Amino acid sequence: PEQADFLVIANRLPVDRLIDAEGEISWRTSPGGLVTALEPVMKLRGGAWIGWHGAAEEDLDEFEHDGLRLVPVPLSEAEVEEYYEGFSNGTLWPLYHDVVVTPEYHREWWDSYVTVNRRFAEKAATLAAPGAVVWVQDYQLQLVPQMLRELRPDLLIGFFLHIPFPPTELFQQLPWRRQILEGLLGADLVGFQMPGGAQNFARLVRQRVGHRTVRDTVFLPDGRKVLARAYPISIDARGFEQLSRTPEVTARAQEIRDSLGNPRHVLIGIDRLDYTKGLPQRLRAFGELVSDGVIDVDDAVFVQVATPSRERVHQYRVLRDDINRLVGRINGDMGRIGQQPVQYLHASFPREEMAAMYRAADVMVVTPLRDGMNLVAKEYIATRWDDRGALVLSEFAGAAGELKQAFQVNPHDINGMKDALLGAMQANPVDLRKRMRALRKQVMENDIERWANTFLAELAAVRDIGPSDG
Ligand code: G6P
Repeated sequence: PEQADFLVIANRLPVDRLIDAEGEISWRTSPGGLVTALEPVMKLRGGAWIGWHGAAEEDLDEFEHDGLRLVPVPLSEAEVEEYYEGFSNGTLWPLYHDVVVTPEYHREWWDSYVTVNRRFAEKAATLAAPGAVVWVQDYQLQLVPQMLRELRPDLLIGFFLHIPFPPTELFQQLPWRRQILEGLLGADLVGFQMPGGAQNFARLVRQRVGHRTVRDTVFLPDGRKVLARAYPISIDARGFEQLSRTPEVTARAQEIRDSLGNPRHVLIGIDRLDYTKGLPQRLRAFGELVSDGVIDVDDAVFVQVATPSRERVHQYRVLRDDINRLVGRINGDMGRIGQQPVQYLHASFPREEMAAMYRAADVMVVTPLRDGMNLVAKEYIATRWDDRGALVLSEFAGAAGELKQAFQVNPHDINGMKDALLGAMQANPVDLRKRMRALRKQVMENDIERWANTFLAELAAVRDIGPSDG
């Protein structure tokens, strides 16, 4: 196969392979913020995308899809369990999200993580042209930078972590903490969502690996330097706004409001069904507002979309059951015939339908207990070209750092959430417009193109500086 000057490596390809009962194959956009952010970057820049295609035990040749060059990496059924569901999503995901649930540490999971990381590194090593730029993505592949550097010292290697990098006290729990840090140090530039993550990383590198650091720079014994910096990620803001302005989306948004019975307030939440997203807390807050009699079932509807995610992982099943029960209780206790306070959809939707839902919402509710960035919040803002609508946003989403004019809440504080929901529903239109204008300025100016340009320019600058004199 042809070598590439620019490569992205992520656990997932932007599309997932689906096979229906008749054996018919189709491709669906992969879930999550990483794909939302990187797909437009790759469409603009070209290059190859190395990743897993979402099905076990299948080795596929590289192919083109929607103008993208996609290079599949196969996982066995055991690797899906141990590397993906196990170490990535049973160990690292909860550990990096402030141990919202308890991480599990299993040596077989770690072994599988090492094996799969090596497979990704080897694939990249064979595809990269001399001196190519390789951009490794996210927590599933933290060993790839070092493995790839050993195979191909000529490459320029960047790494970006899409989720939070945890406080040092939590990271220390990891039995393989040193290997992970050394894996990341194989990159020339390590990017984080927030400055705090970059600082945690530099501190751990000092304490655990013993390298000298000065501000954002790590000095390695062999004279190489590694930079650790924050790059808050974003979306294709203009593209998403344009989509939301189409006649189809506009008509569909009205249809959604009509089928909800045109209540005064439509509140919407759209999340992967994940315990980091704070779904029970937000439903409880809304349910209490209805049961307290503060809002009437005829006046307000809460639409919660929960996209199925990591369904075989134990804690995700527990959460699914909890939410089913909670929604059932709220609707059972407070609903009337033809009037359910919570409309719950356990399904995934295409971008067009998401845009229509955002357009239909008076209040967007985004209340994670911990979140790297949260791009749903930014998508909502991109669709509010008429400066209408309100965003309720958790302080613990990375996006809270930029989206100061949202109604910010602590999702653990149910009374505080009730106040924020009510505040957003009852705010005067002049105040709402002022807030939305400021939010839109932030999101529309700092779009995904700027994010990628900044990261890649600072990565390229590392090569120009050359080895340090320490
Ligand atoms: C988050 C992660 C991504 C991941 C996505 C969906 O956005 O940062 O790396 O791809 O969730 O999760 P999944 O496990 O389905 O890939």
